[in-house]
Amino acid sequence: MSNLKVAVIGAGSIAVHRHLPEYQSRQGVDIVAVCDILEKRAQEVAAEYGAKAYTDYKEAITDSGADLVSVCLPNYLHAPVSIFALEQGKHVLCEKPMATSDEEAQQMIEASNKSGKKLMIGHNQRFVASHEKARELIANGDLGKIYSFRTTFGHGGPEGWSVDGAESWFFRKKEAFIGALGDLGVHKADVIRYILGEEMKEVAAMVESSAKENSDVDDQAVSVLRSENGIIGTLTASWAYKGGENNATVIYGEKGNLRLEDDPTYSLIATYTDGTRVNYELGQIQTNDGGGQTSTGVIDHFVDSVLNDTKPLIDGEEGYKSLKIILAALEANETKQNVTIS
Ligand SMILES: NC(=O)c1ccc[n+]([C@@H]2O[C@H](COP(=O)([O-])OP(=O)(O)OC[C@H]3O[C@@H](n4cnc5c(N)ncnc54)[C@H](O)[C@@H]3O)[C@@H](O)[C@H]2O)c1
Repeated sequence: MSNLKVAVIGAGSIAVHRHLPEYQSRQGVDIVAVCDILEKRAQEVAAEYGAKAYTDYKEAITDSGADLVSVCLPNYLHAPVSIFALEQGKHVLCEKPMATSDEEAQQMIEASNKSGKKLMIGHNQRFVASHEKARELIANGDLGKIYSFRTTFGHGGPEGWSVDGAESWFFRKKEAFIGALGDLGVHKADVIRYILGEEMKEVAAMVESSAKENSDVDDQAVSVLRSENGIIGTLTASWAYKGGENNATVIYGEKGNLRLEDDPTYSLIATYTDGTRVNYELGQIQTNDGGGQTSTGVIDHFVDSVLNDTKPLIDGEEGYKSLKIILAALEANETKQNVTIS
């Protein structure tokens, strides 16, 4: 069987730190195209991977002969570029948040269904060992009935991550559509659904833009969620957790609690009502400064789903369910009303 060919669209931080190295280390995959609107950036990154450089995403997708397309672009381009690639018969791995509206997300799913090609959303937190283990423990009834949770993701902001630093698109609503809530909050929306195995039905939220100058998107968000079976919890996201990243989740149940990514040594700590404590050393979550797990697992999963013709763990429908929580939080903040997710 010939190698799968991949085109990576957007040559910024997520492409350079995660997608490109993970495709390169994967047997049977050739990186054939790297596209960035900035020609110099496209050329430099393409040269590093022996790929052809493009500045026009349509050309990169059609002319390169790619089978797979990674969409590593500002949020407003996720839907148009993914839909174009799917219509061209390519399998698509699109970064999060999946889209900027219900309509866009639905159109992406429709394009995938119509073409019969895979659509996966880059919710890498599902592949974090502590999250996988917590899901397993909860599904096995280890914690009994689940009552509540708190989940958070915050760091100093995208100026410390984006290839364009403080000048980044992340701070411009026209390109980002949403700030910390969509950048970080959507990860926790996705992972809490996954860990609990439940859908969120009701959302309340307060969202602020209080920390960043030269930005017209949110940088703080606190939301309260209620699941279909009455589990309630908080989901918080921030671009101003000064002095250190926080990516922790705590889940409280009938028989005890689970603390995930909340301790520097043990990525999962289970504490039970009889006083026993189990420390799991499962390796740490990836951080923006290069710490933790070395691979996201996302690229391998995407390539495997294409090779084995299996449904990706986070397909368009799954990405959309997580996006809906974030859209509902924005609406709840604007209307000052709880929002019910249909
Ligand atoms: N899964 C994760 O953990 C994770 C982490 C960080 C970012 N992301 C997501 O990845 C996406 C990209 O973020 P990033 O951090 O790489 O941003 P970035 O600012 O570092 O890079 C974006 C790149 O896109 C290029 N670009 C902009 N418009 C373009 C166009 N029309 N055609 C081609 N290239 C264009 C820019 O020049 C830049 O090089 C975002 O959606 C972000 O939310 C995901």
